[in-house]
Amino acid sequence: MEFDDVILGRRSIRGFKDEPVPQDLLREVIGLATRAPSSMNTQPWYFHAVAGDALDRIRQGNTERNLAGVPASREIRMHGPYDGVHRERQKAIAVQLFDAMDIAWSDKERRKDWVLRGFRQFDAPVSIVVCFDKSLDNNDIAIFDCGAVVNCLVNAAWSRGLGAVINGQGIMQSPVVREHAGIPDDQIIMSCVAMGFPRDDFAANDVVSTRRPVDDVVSFVGFDG
Ligand SMILES: Cc1cc2nc3c(=O)[nH]c(=O)nc-3n(C[C@H](O)[C@H](O)[C@H](O)COP(=O)(O)O)c2cc1C
Repeated sequence: MEFDDVILGRRSIRGFKDEPVPQDLLREVIGLATRAPSSMNTQPWYFHAVAGDALDRIRQGNTERNLAGVPASREIRMHGPYDGVHRERQKAIAVQLFDAMDIAWSDKERRKDWVLRGFRQFDAPVSIVVCFDKSLDNNDIAIFDCGAVVNCLVNAAWSRGLGAVINGQGIMQSPVVREHAGIPDDQIIMSCVAMGFPRDDFAANDVVSTRRPVDDVVSFVGFDG
């Protein structure tokens, strides 16, 4: 695949075939991802690829705790509810996804079901939990580095025929993930990425999210023309 095919073709995948992902393929994809730049080449990241019973236990624990109303306990600082333009963009992608899945905005049950799918990591065969060294906590640079590597990860997956969605929901109940993925005490959980072979018959997988026009996000200073 050409670079443009990957960058322009990739989209978040939320429906997966019931098909295991070979470890060698994951190794290859993670190897590509780790070509990401990092501050002073510190490479503070760790990847915990979780599948099978361990992942099912995470899904179950996440679901139970969320249904029981256990407050979120992420290990990185979180924003509150979005408002203004950020809320508008958040809502726009939700509308696109719900339209694709034929979920009416008024249908609270099906919306809740969709949210629960997210806590189950969209029933993906693999979840890659991305962590960084605890010794670099209280410093936003390692988090920046993890963002870079996760972006490489989802694009590398796409280039090899896999689909992925970065899934903040999946690590909201971090003690569950920590226990069943066996995260060592000297690592902080950053996020997880649900991954697998994309289903062709899952409408949300075809949703192409919008982007702000380049001229809205860039300012040029000191250019002649
Ligand atoms: C930090 C982060 C957390 C995310 N968490 C979720 C999530 O919990 N559930 C979900 O469905 N998508 C999640 N996403 C995916 C975004 O919704 C998605 O990337 C965005 O809407 C753009 O769509 P695209 O990836 O298809 O281009 C997350 C993305 C990022 C970067």
